[in-house]
Amino acid sequence: MVLDGRLCYGGDYNPEQWPAEVWEQDVELMRQARVTLVTVGVFAWSRLEPAPGRYTFDWLDRVLDLLHAGGIRVALATPTASPPPWFSLAHPDALPVTADGVRLHHGSRDTYCAAAPAYRAAARRITGLLAERYADHPALALWHVHNEYGTTCHCHHAEAGFRRWLRDRYRDLDALNDAWTTSFWSQHHSDWAQVSTPRATQYLPNPGQVLDFRRYWSDELLAAYVEQRDLLRAATPAVPVTTNYVLGDWVPVDHARWAAEVDLVAIDHYPSDAGPAAEEQIALAADLARGWARHGARHQPCAGDDDLPGTRGSWLLMESAPNLIYTAGRMHTREPGRMTRHSLAYVARGSRGAMFFQWRAPRGGAELFHSALVPHAGPDSRIFREAVELGGILDRLAEVDAGVVEAPVAIAWDAASGWALQQRALPSDRIHHHTEVAVAHRTLRRAGYACDPVLPGDPLTGYALLVLPALYLADDDTAAWVRDYVHGGGHVVISYLSGVADEHARIRLGGYPGAYRDVLGVRVEEFHPLADGEEVPLTGGGTARFWAETVRVAGAEPVDAYAAGVLAGQPAVTRHRYGDGVAWYVSTRPDEGTYQRLLDEAARAAGAAPTCLDAPPGVEAVRRRSPEASWLFLLNHTASAQRVPTAGIDLLTGAVVEDAVTLPIGGVAVVRERAGA
Ligand code: GAL
Repeated sequence: MVLDGRLCYGGDYNPEQWPAEVWEQDVELMRQARVTLVTVGVFAWSRLEPAPGRYTFDWLDRVLDLLHAGGIRVALATPTASPPPWFSLAHPDALPVTADGVRLHHGSRDTYCAAAPAYRAAARRITGLLAERYADHPALALWHVHNEYGTTCHCHHAEAGFRRWLRDRYRDLDALNDAWTTSFWSQHHSDWAQVSTPRATQYLPNPGQVLDFRRYWSDELLAAYVEQRDLLRAATPAVPVTTNYVLGDWVPVDHARWAAEVDLVAIDHYPSDAGPAAEEQIALAADLARGWARHGARHQPCAGDDDLPGTRGSWLLMESAPNLIYTAGRMHTREPGRMTRHSLAYVARGSRGAMFFQWRAPRGGAELFHSALVPHAGPDSRIFREAVELGGILDRLAEVDAGVVEAPVAIAWDAASGWALQQRALPSDRIHHHTEVAVAHRTLRRAGYACDPVLPGDPLTGYALLVLPALYLADDDTAAWVRDYVHGGGHVVISYLSGVADEHARIRLGGYPGAYRDVLGVRVEEFHPLADGEEVPLTGGGTARFWAETVRVAGAEPVDAYAAGVLAGQPAVTRHRYGDGVAWYVSTRPDEGTYQRLLDEAARAAGAAPTCLDAPPGVEAVRRRSPEASWLFLLNHTASAQRVPTAGIDLLTGAVVEDAVTLPIGGVAVVRERAGA
């Protein structure tokens, strides 16, 4: 969303935690920092409705008026992620139940069952009232529904919902029994009433049931979102509606499928690492968001924004941490400049701005030490000064919003494959789809290639190379999608544990990887999961880790082979011409250098080129392009100054770049490239 031609900049604002005098200071400080958008009301339900049916909107009226007077737009949130205590006491059946049957109590947030009718009705009620009251408020720019949908529950409402969902999907019980392989361990259901959520049980649960439970929750939560969205849309058809995605393996939400229902994909992102891995995580999260956003069906103009150029993968970083980030056991302080560099890393990859959690650090409450743009120390602080600087920078970058990120490589990503590989009793608990996507993504990033995450079935026109990292599940359509792409001239790199199972997580028989044997010209007979730290040398000079397989070639040529152990002499990496294309199979996780050389070779052979051939290692280069211009983002993540050949105008400094920019340590340049440069 461009707000009157500006990028989004601001964050969660919680005036309900402060006396009214602070609100005026806040607006003044926001103006100093050139804040354009704040998210208001996320957890304000008990301040808006302190007792059932008693509403106190007056404070919110004043806050919105003040913000408007200060020229700051509002993403107005519905407060449904934290029902007030009176609600749970009045509706104990709407409190969530864990897999072991424990009913949780209010006292934190997100303590509701999203399938409980009372919760849904209360959520609709407060949303409808907000919609009615603020529909015409001039500060309103965006509706922010709920916060980070991601809860599950095992109560009787959830169980009934799960059964309804299953009946819809399978129609009859035989089909369900078949999909879940209930002939195993005497789990055959003879009546729908026997079908339950995957509660705590004696030993391993049924994998089909666990997978469908995740799918059910994704759809149930989406239905809860859609109910609110429809009320908001009815009141304000021109105001876009979004919800902030939370990322993580525990989240039962298929974000790509949700994209069709939001007007703007928005993510919250908190890297879990304080070092260079943070930059890898940012690049991946931003690319995923862009990939999801391309599945958006509805892209209506935002308030004050008449020129939103349709479906092009724009999205918004809705939350990030200005300073301290959580890592195991300790919070890490970000060094000076990192907040700006990281914010620009998201913008480089398509974010329509940089938003933070949170504007002002709270005095108390569960997250009292969470960082904020206005820290406990107040505005006379490094963080606030950096916030002011970032506001100025984002102001100068507004034009990049017209650019689309260019990427020659597609990486397949699939929520359900991720969920299926989280199950227990798999050959290795080290191999997860999302981790393998992250490894392939970071390896390609190091080699300088931009990647677009794609979903099985997505159009692949324009991508020179497709990578399938442990894309475990494949229905027949997915198998055909890969086959047709390669047959038509596409190049693909497929890694271990791809296409092994069908959409119900049942094995595709006859040798792995059942879905892709023909395209790959290989047949895998056996898996050899490796132990932690175990390494097997490869004849090409690298090492194999985590995983190995007995690969029989059936048309493919070996490219690299295991050099020791039981697999000595057998292929580890193969290549196969199929139709007009090429299919590589990688049966292990090679060491980083070997994997990088392999992906680089596959990409080059496919005709893909790195974004910026001259960018030194550690300098991230991302290009956004519009029909009129192109912008090269250069981010120096290294500990020394770096020179990168390029020509144009550096939007951060306004300086003309004749032939190269020199980036200081941690420095960033955004060069509007000279045509033909
Ligand atoms: C987000 C959440 C915020 C805040 C933040 C802390 O997941 O939406 O409300 O809790 O995490 O990092």
